[in-house]
Amino acid sequence: MPHVIRKRIVLKASAILLSTFVPFACGLAQSPAPLTLEIQLDKPLYKVSPTLYGLMTEEINFSYDGGLYAEMVRNRTFGTRSHAQPVHWYLVEKGEGIGSMGIDDASGPSDALPSSLRIDITKADAESPVGVYNDGYWGMALKPDTTYKGSFYAKADSSDLGAVTISLVNDTSGAALATTTAPTPTTEWKPYLFTLKTGKISSSTNNHLVLTVAHPGKLWLDVVSLFPPTFHDRENGNRPDLMEMMSAMHPTFLRLPGGNYLEGDEIADRYDWKNMIGPLVDRPTHPSPWRYQSSDGMGLLEFLEWTEDLNIEPVLAVYAGYSLHGAHINAGPFLKPFVQDAVDEIEFVTGDIRTKWGAVRAQLGHPKPFPLHYVEIGNEDWFDKSGSYETRFTQFDRAIKAQYPELKTIATMPLKQTRPDVQDDHYYLRATESYAHATQYDHTDRSGPKIFVGEWATREGSPTPDLNAALGDAALMTSFERNSDLIIMASYAPLFVNVNPGGMQWESDLIGYDAGSSYGSPSYYAQVLFGKYLGDSVPKTAVQNTPPRFFYSATTDTAKGKMYLKMVNGSSVPQPVALKLSGAARIAAGAVMETLSGNDPAETNTISDPKHLVPVKSTLKESSASFNHTMPAYSIQVIEFSFEKMP
Ligand code: AHR
Repeated sequence: MPHVIRKRIVLKASAILLSTFVPFACGLAQSPAPLTLEIQLDKPLYKVSPTLYGLMTEEINFSYDGGLYAEMVRNRTFGTRSHAQPVHWYLVEKGEGIGSMGIDDASGPSDALPSSLRIDITKADAESPVGVYNDGYWGMALKPDTTYKGSFYAKADSSDLGAVTISLVNDTSGAALATTTAPTPTTEWKPYLFTLKTGKISSSTNNHLVLTVAHPGKLWLDVVSLFPPTFHDRENGNRPDLMEMMSAMHPTFLRLPGGNYLEGDEIADRYDWKNMIGPLVDRPTHPSPWRYQSSDGMGLLEFLEWTEDLNIEPVLAVYAGYSLHGAHINAGPFLKPFVQDAVDEIEFVTGDIRTKWGAVRAQLGHPKPFPLHYVEIGNEDWFDKSGSYETRFTQFDRAIKAQYPELKTIATMPLKQTRPDVQDDHYYLRATESYAHATQYDHTDRSGPKIFVGEWATREGSPTPDLNAALGDAALMTSFERNSDLIIMASYAPLFVNVNPGGMQWESDLIGYDAGSSYGSPSYYAQVLFGKYLGDSVPKTAVQNTPPRFFYSATTDTAKGKMYLKMVNGSSVPQPVALKLSGAARIAAGAVMETLSGNDPAETNTISDPKHLVPVKSTLKESSASFNHTMPAYSIQVIEFSFEKMP
């Protein structure tokens, strides 16, 4: 099909360069004909898809653990081990105290967590306590006058081990910044809750959590957890800074839970949603394909609550019987349980409380069903060389539609016999490739399925993309908007990266962070601009003498009397544009403009220079119906015009 896009498009860069330099090469240097752009405000062509921009994330680059999911304790269930010792946990022996620690595979607090951490305390007293500490996800961020809520499961070998002292301690000074105690553990596994409140401390990320006792004996621990204040005060919730950054992108949906993370390396490592609901102690954790264990704190309900908190809808990707190392399940009886899991999952999301899985969701504290319109079947199934996708898709599609005829299903690759409602295209490009690709949809055949660009990005810069990438992204987004009769959804990927050493598995991710702060890349700000200024209709436009690396889109919101013009100048020289806005009774003076630009395409933002490039607001003096405008080099500009309709 003409609109099928491979993951990495081979660009005919040489052809583009050649055409750019031909006049000079031939000694015919002359001023190029001026670029003119006319927008016909009274000639709407089609609606902008109301779901055009959304979010896509998965457990990659410590996106949830060590990222959005606000848990501060790393390896809280001691599953990740090195030489039988849990990683990120260390023995504490104060003063004369003596002890040892190790994993006990014979005792755990639940069937899901059959092992735990055992601490043997040989010698301890009040001056010489013994216990363990956790160093968090590259530290633990603490702020002044803040309450941290914690919990753990524990048992002891006798009932006289004494209270457990819990402290937040600064790595450098060794000072305890907050301390509390939990009651003496009993000889049975039980949960214990605690809170830690900081005083007038300085904010920092170099802190750790310590748990100690002051008597000899044996102590077992599991699911040791600590949360800062979360977005909307959700229990087991998300970091407010990252939620706010996503909100500023004006998304309309969240594609969840992946990506490769949906599929897992092996079938057993798929996103098995039934293992990821309910109390944390009942979640076994599982290996993410991005080479670390997922705590599964971001379970299905947490994903859905995240959509609720951002007032957006889930686009639910269901596991479709293919995993990344190549194992697949053929359509037929063996696939049936997986299809049933998907149908149950949809019921968990949308069913009322009289349904089996709706009742489970209600029991977990969310009686209200979540809205759902799109279900994606699998992820990137072109990797399945067995050719089984079409029959697998059909089995899922039929079962889902039989029960939920109103749902639209999304295929992850072109199908031969079946026409899906929507097809998911993915592409990761260099900036030059994005420019080459930015007009492709203008010529795509409209008789195929609608398109969901479920993963896309211009990849320039690491760990987060630079201005060059932002320009490529903006060029692509103009094409999404110009063609939003065809492209109904688009979501950049990956969204998040923990910028600490070892945090990144995939270069160029939209938003970077450490334990305490976060920043948006220039590409992030391009997304913010495109999401913020979006009308509901695409007007007719006419462009003449388009130079290389110039891209535009226009959308109108007639009810509000607004037209949003987005322009991208990816070249190293300023770009004059003769603008004509026709078909309006009046164009108001003083249009608002936001510009994201830099002197060098390699310019970028970092965790230590987070606002190096951000959009700058100004007012356009010339905003009559026809005027000349000059875009700076390497710039993205969005202009919001106010207009009055023709009588
Ligand atoms: O976004 C990173 C990965 O790229 C996704 O997990 C996968 O779907 C794609 O190959």
